[in-house]
Amino acid sequence: MSIHISADGRRFQLDTRDTSYQFHADKYGVLAHDYYGKRIPFEDLTDGEFFADVGFSGNPWDAGEERTYSLDTRLQEFPGYGCGDYRESAVSLAFSNGSQAADFRYESCKVMDRAWTIPGLPALWDTEEAPAQTLVVTLKERASNIRLQLSYAVFEAENVIARSARIVNDGAEAVYVERCLSCCVDYGFGDYELMIFPGRHCMERVPQRQSVGFTKQEVYSLRGASSHQMNPAMLLCRPDTTETQGECWGYCLAYSGSFIGSAQKDQRGQTRVVMGINPAQFSWRLQPGDSFDAPQAILSYSAAGFERLSHQYHDILRNHMCRGQWVHKPKPVVVNTWEAAYFNFDRETVMRLTKDAAKVGADMLVLDDGWFGHRDSDTSSLGDWYENTKKLGGTLASLSNAVHDEGLLFGLWVEPEMISEDSDLYRAHPEWALAIEGRPPVRSRCQLVLDMSRKDVRDYLFGRLSAILSGARIEYVKWDFNRSVCEMWSHLPGARQGETAHRWMLGVYELFERVTAAFPELLIENCSGGGGRFDAGMLYYSPQIWCSDNTDAVNRLDIQYGTSFFYPMSAVAAHVSVCPNHQTGRTVPLMTRTRVAMTGAFGYELDLGKLKEPERAQIARDIQAYKAREELFREGRYHRLTKPGERYAAWMYVSENRDKALLNVVMREAEGNAMPVKVPLRGLLPEASYRCSLTGAVHSGAVWMACGLTLPVIYWQYESETVEFERVQRG
Ligand code: DGJ
Repeated sequence: MSIHISADGRRFQLDTRDTSYQFHADKYGVLAHDYYGKRIPFEDLTDGEFFADVGFSGNPWDAGEERTYSLDTRLQEFPGYGCGDYRESAVSLAFSNGSQAADFRYESCKVMDRAWTIPGLPALWDTEEAPAQTLVVTLKERASNIRLQLSYAVFEAENVIARSARIVNDGAEAVYVERCLSCCVDYGFGDYELMIFPGRHCMERVPQRQSVGFTKQEVYSLRGASSHQMNPAMLLCRPDTTETQGECWGYCLAYSGSFIGSAQKDQRGQTRVVMGINPAQFSWRLQPGDSFDAPQAILSYSAAGFERLSHQYHDILRNHMCRGQWVHKPKPVVVNTWEAAYFNFDRETVMRLTKDAAKVGADMLVLDDGWFGHRDSDTSSLGDWYENTKKLGGTLASLSNAVHDEGLLFGLWVEPEMISEDSDLYRAHPEWALAIEGRPPVRSRCQLVLDMSRKDVRDYLFGRLSAILSGARIEYVKWDFNRSVCEMWSHLPGARQGETAHRWMLGVYELFERVTAAFPELLIENCSGGGGRFDAGMLYYSPQIWCSDNTDAVNRLDIQYGTSFFYPMSAVAAHVSVCPNHQTGRTVPLMTRTRVAMTGAFGYELDLGKLKEPERAQIARDIQAYKAREELFREGRYHRLTKPGERYAAWMYVSENRDKALLNVVMREAEGNAMPVKVPLRGLLPEASYRCSLTGAVHSGAVWMACGLTLPVIYWQYESETVEFERVQRG
């Protein structure tokens, strides 16, 4: 039983294996937050509450002269706007009389024996054999017939609580939902730090850690995408929390559109954390009888540092967010045409790349951008999803057959949500592009964005995608998205523009859903100019995501480090590219590029024909080596052993049964008379013995973890090493 309710039906505790979350409906029906942390017995925590008459913090009408009760100082589950709590709110409604307010009070609760699902939005899933329980608490707005249902799906073994909110209009007139976030958690005492994952194109998710103070620390996107610039995941921690010690709380939003997340201390030093859809692009008309659902926020807590928290997120996202047959299967080793040829290819090029890929033992040729319309640069043809038979020397089907004849699978790039002005589609339907009436639209990469809130647009795209996917043997699609959205304005007659941003996102998800349902065997790799939509929501539709357009192995160390805080390595697509690297000009040994790219979705992004024979031979060996270990990269526990900025980077994969481990070390810096690298290992069984592949030494896991491995060689800058540890019996 993971959900406990007190006999009076007003106190709730959600227990996972190691965590507890408690809240209650107080005497005024306000949902008050009590606790989120280490697992505790279910006991009444009311004695820990502290009430004081705090000047300029008003009191609700029903508290009469009780001046010590104020919503402005109360720890709450889902604070409303405009009713005496001046802090960040989770919900706000606009009424026909011009007022804006939301004051929800407890009405009832129920427990469901399955995980909560959200119509049209991604959400963690469970199974009949291993169900998750959901607590649903219903509240009613004091001055109207609007109800709020707060759902808490408890994934016990994974230490995860998934929250969402639904607003239902049971009244007789329309209201506008001006804000409906996904979660709020109030922390009564203590100092905290917030770790966030900002970045930019080609440098995504580089963590920053800062103290939570009285100014609001807000992460956000207004780009219509989760974005390169800020990831919709953040964690709160104690100032002394490290990888392996201390408390931390994760907040990860399963949403790929504009979002906010914030942490701020209030006047009394209490910390409020919220996360959800960005209210700046949101105003939703709720007609009588209608309901609105906020996306899911995935919460987790660890008392043992970031590593434990990351493992909890890796498990929940890989096993309960990703769907489809590819999640737990070896993914094909791909050779992608993008950095090999960009737009400059013909059938001969593709077949040459294919034959070279087959020779080194790769599994799939991926034809990237440039195969459709008359797209020989990024200035045209998006929307015209018809193959360029002249460039391809025939149909896609014939090309795909030719690739298959060489023993390879075939993958294809698409960018469905975009439209070029130079396209037949735009000439026929300029109104299908997002643009504010009377204003010229903002171009980015010379392209506009299709209005995905429109059914006719989605039907057209589904029609084209399904014709392409059923017209040729295509096992994989790289689904790209190469600009931020600017004008959230729909030309659809009667469109309510405050709803366009979210309706646009729902439209994108609907298209993904239709494609995945119609082509269940297809492997979709998500992409947005690299990692601009690397979020939990997208993992519902695609089990892997192109991590960054930056393929420089040294930059990738930091990008993949940041990505690993929330997202499993099975989802991280990484490729080996040529040197000097196309994004940074840096030259890094092939072996190091390969080691960094060996994640759950590995491949190459170069013209194998332009390499020297020894390099091709090396690649053939590397692919074999990868295949022999791919389960470890896909399903193994990932341990960050160093931080960006250190002399070397080190990380480990440990198999589920802890029989095998693989350590990678990359030298970031080099110096004269350097000391060797000494890395303490993690994740081994303390009492088991392990043999080191590099030195042959055998030690207990306890010794390897306490004393570490000293590498016997001094490495040059950008050189690297892989060391394997195998469990052995000691006589
Ligand atoms: C951006 C992607 O991230 C690249 O890998 C490539 O597919 C290009 N788009 C193609 O336009």
